[in-house]
Amino acid sequence: MDNRQLIEKAKEAMENSYSPYSNFKVGACLLCKDGTIYTGCNIENSSFGATNCAERTAIFKAVSEGKREFLKIAVVGSGEDLTFPCGICRQVMSEFMLDGEVILEDNNREIKVFKVRDLLPYAFSL
Ligand code: THU
Repeated sequence: MDNRQLIEKAKEAMENSYSPYSNFKVGACLLCKDGTIYTGCNIENSSFGATNCAERTAIFKAVSEGKREFLKIAVVGSGEDLTFPCGICRQVMSEFMLDGEVILEDNNREIKVFKVRDLLPYAFSL
């Protein structure tokens, strides 16, 4: 699956966003090393801290199905420009895909690719 297809899958997943508090929809599509994909959306909660981001939804779905190695994650949001992953999601990415890539789309529909290592330098690990 190429970067464009991952972005389109992330857009489909974004439609399931549950975001009545921020009205900001996010979708993600994770590509595993074995070629399978897992999608996710943000899921908000009236207790705001219980909100789960789209990226972590996708990663946790995959991990809970036994997957451990991920190559790329595409992320799209309902905002005007690139939707960069938040700090917590970058930390979760560093656990499972430190050599992986984050695929984003700008408002001209151009795809931008970032390395997880560049987005979270000096990541914490035990
Ligand atoms: N959000 C994500 O889903 N991913 C990110 O990396 C940034 C933020 C969601 C969380 C919340 O539902 C909404 O965007 C506004 O913060």
